This record gives sequence, C-alpha cells and structure tokens, in this order.
Amino acid sequence: MSLRYINQHLQLENIPIAQIVQQYGTPCYIYSKTELIKQWQAFSESLMPYPHQICYAVKANSNLSILSLLAKQGAGFDIVSGGELARVLKAGGDAKKSVFSGVGKSIDEITQALEADIGCFNVESHEELLRIETQAKVLNRIAPIALRINPDINANTHPYITTGTKDNKFGISEHNALALYSLAAQSKHLKIQGIACHLGSQLNTLQPFLQAITRLLILVEQLKEQHINLQTINIGGGLGISYNQETVPTPQDYCKAMLETLTQSKCHLRLVIEPGRALVAKAGILVTRVEYLKRHADKHFAIVDAGMNDLLRPALYQAQQTIKEVDLHPELNETIYDVVGPICESSDFLGKDKLLRIKPGDYLAILDSGAYGFSMSSNYNSRPRSAEVLVDNTKISLIRARETIEQLWANEHVYPSLRVP
Ligand code: LLP
Repeated sequence: MSLRYINQHLQLENIPIAQIVQQYGTPCYIYSKTELIKQWQAFSESLMPYPHQICYAVKANSNLSILSLLAKQGAGFDIVSGGELARVLKAGGDAKKSVFSGVGKSIDEITQALEADIGCFNVESHEELLRIETQAKVLNRIAPIALRINPDINANTHPYITTGTKDNKFGISEHNALALYSLAAQSKHLKIQGIACHLGSQLNTLQPFLQAITRLLILVEQLKEQHINLQTINIGGGLGISYNQETVPTPQDYCKAMLETLTQSKCHLRLVIEPGRALVAKAGILVTRVEYLKRHADKHFAIVDAGMNDLLRPALYQAQQTIKEVDLHPELNETIYDVVGPICESSDFLGKDKLLRIKPGDYLAILDSGAYGFSMSSNYNSRPRSAEVLVDNTKISLIRARETIEQLWANEHVYPSLRVP
C-alpha cells in the first residue's frame, strides 16, 4: 500500500508504508517533503508580490529537518520559548526573520532572543514590555517590538485553542494599547515595529481574520495621529485544515482576502503571518499497528500501539482525524471501531466510531498528523517517543530515531539512601 493511496495529500511516489515501518517500527510519523513544500508555496505564491514574511509556528512541528526545509524556502519562524529559538538557530533559520510570541517570556529567554537578534517581540503585557526594555538596556541593545492585541473576537473554534477573546490570557486590549505604544515610543531601548494578533487555531472561516485586520487598522490610524508609524501588521496563525472533508478556506483564499483588505486600506504595512497547522498537518501521517481487536457487548475496540502520548489531539480536543487501513481486506466485514491505545486512561483514544476492515497485525494510518502530533507527544506511561521519517520522492530518511528506554531515565538520579548497597 502506498502513501499516495493512503492520503491523497501526501503526494508520495508509491512508497510502501510497510517498508518504512518494517525498518523503523511503529508508532511512526511519516512526513512528505513534496506536500510540505506544496503548502509552503500555496502561501508564499499567494502573497506575492505584496511585502510579507511567513513566520512558521514552530510549535506545530519542531523537528530540525522540517525547520531546515522551511528555512531553505525563506521562512521566518514564530517561536514561543528559548528552546524553540535554539531549534530554529540549530536548523539554520534566521532569527532576524522571526518573531517571539507568548505570555510568559522569562528574563533568560528575552536575553537569548536579544542576543540572537530576534526580528520582533510580540509583547503580551505592560509588565513584559518593561522587562524587555530593562533587558535591552542591560545588553545595550534596541529591542524591536509589536504589541499583540487581544481584539475580543470569537474565532468559533475549540475553547482550548481560542486565544483572541477577553477571557483568554493572551494579548493587550485595544483600550490599553495606545498608552503602551506611547510609553514604548519614549524608550531609547525599544523600537516600535508593528502590531500583532492571533485569534486561535483551526479557524474554518475567513471572517474573524478580516474582522481582526480591520480592527488593527483602526489602531494603526490612531497611532499615526500620535506620530507613531508602524511597519508591520501580524495577523498570527490559525488557518484551519479539513480533517473530515469539511469546507475550509484554502491558503490561497486566505491570502487573497487579507491582501484585498490591506490594499484597500492603503496602509502600506508589511504583512506577517504565523501559520503552523496549515503548513505541516497534511504533510504527515501517524502509522500504528493493530495489537488486538476486542469486543464489549456491541462495542468494538481496535487496540493499537499508538496512544494519547503519541497523538494527544483526540484526547485533549476531542479531535476526529481520518483513520485509514494500510492493508486492504475486502473479504472482511466492515465494523465500527473505537481506535484506542494501550494507555491506562479512557481518554486514550485516537478515533471514535471508525468504519474499518481490519485484523490484528494490520497497520492503520492516522491522516493529517503533521501538525501538533509529534510536537505534543510525551513519555506518559514510560513510553519512548516514536520515530519520525521524511520521504523525499523515493528517498526515505529517519529524521528522529525512536527513543530508547535508557533515554527515559537518563536525567534521573536514584536518591542515595535508596540505593542498594
Ligand atoms: N501564532 C501563535 C501566537 C500561536 O499561538 C499559534 C498556535 C500559531 C501562531 C499557529 O497556529 P496554527 O496556524 O497552527 O493554527 N495544539 C492545538 C493547536 C494549538 C495552537 C496554539 N497556538 C491543536 O492540536 O489543535
């Protein structure tokens, strides 16, 4: 069975999944370079020739090979921690093209970003602005900043991934923004570069994005009146993908709509976007093996070797991703299964009510797992994290080896008095 058959989005050339998993085992994340580049081009070509920077949201998939591929395409990065910044630099990314988001930037992280020459801090509070100014002064540098506005717009997505309403911890209200901008304008150690916002993730309509741009542009005009001129407008990430054949705007629709609004406004601001999911989700699948088929009365379970530690989205957001059989058994009856993992929690499911023809030993592919799959995985139940493989036409490369059991306790110390003499 080829990946092309499994996932039309994964335009891989007849590469047998069986060959990959026989070599690297399951659970295993498999990514397509072709699909990744295709999604990148969908954004970058649609934004041309308008001045822009695409800052890939590292949290979606932070594997060094993925970052390096995107850096080579010209990506900047949206980072939210010192660890993500270090990954970007290690992968050959350019800190100057990158932005630093997040509500809890520590002094060490701010220092690290200033020393790396970060392109912009997306500032999320008054206190953070002061902290950045202080650290810039200590290092005798000028910190480029944008204020992240919380426009109180409901993005109509899952509550856990909504970020732009007044009940969320993110950003600064429009009401407080003008005063903070004028404070920043007086500092020798801050350079006001732009305005930013991020409404949430997996948005499936364009209307909230357009509403947010319009609101940000009102602030841009008010700032102009105070002789504060911005250079960039950052609309964040958040464009959704179609997990279950639902209609979602394409990157082309999204870019076109935003550029129309910006061009009409004649604001002449450079556009920054921070897509994560829409760039990488469709480029990845998670392959898992069926261990057992189990029945409780009328309920059928497919117990597989991947669990919520490998793919957390179903447990955390009740996300439903498409699950396909890798091995085809037309002779079997279709049965409705809950596809569950080996972890000792009832939240450990990868899919509910999936119609499948399977037997133990078969492989299943969980589609659209390139974003927030491996990057959210953990060692819960002392399970080593899975292998990651990149397919580039006919070339198969292991881009992260499966963790070993010894790596699980490598940083642990047995308390001396407990040691057996
Ligand atoms: N920019 C900022 C400031 C963000 O917080 C995020 C995502 C992004 C950009 C990228 O958003 P995207 O284009 O990927 O929607 N784990 C969740 C998604 C969490 C998103 C967090 N922030 C999931 O699996 O659905």
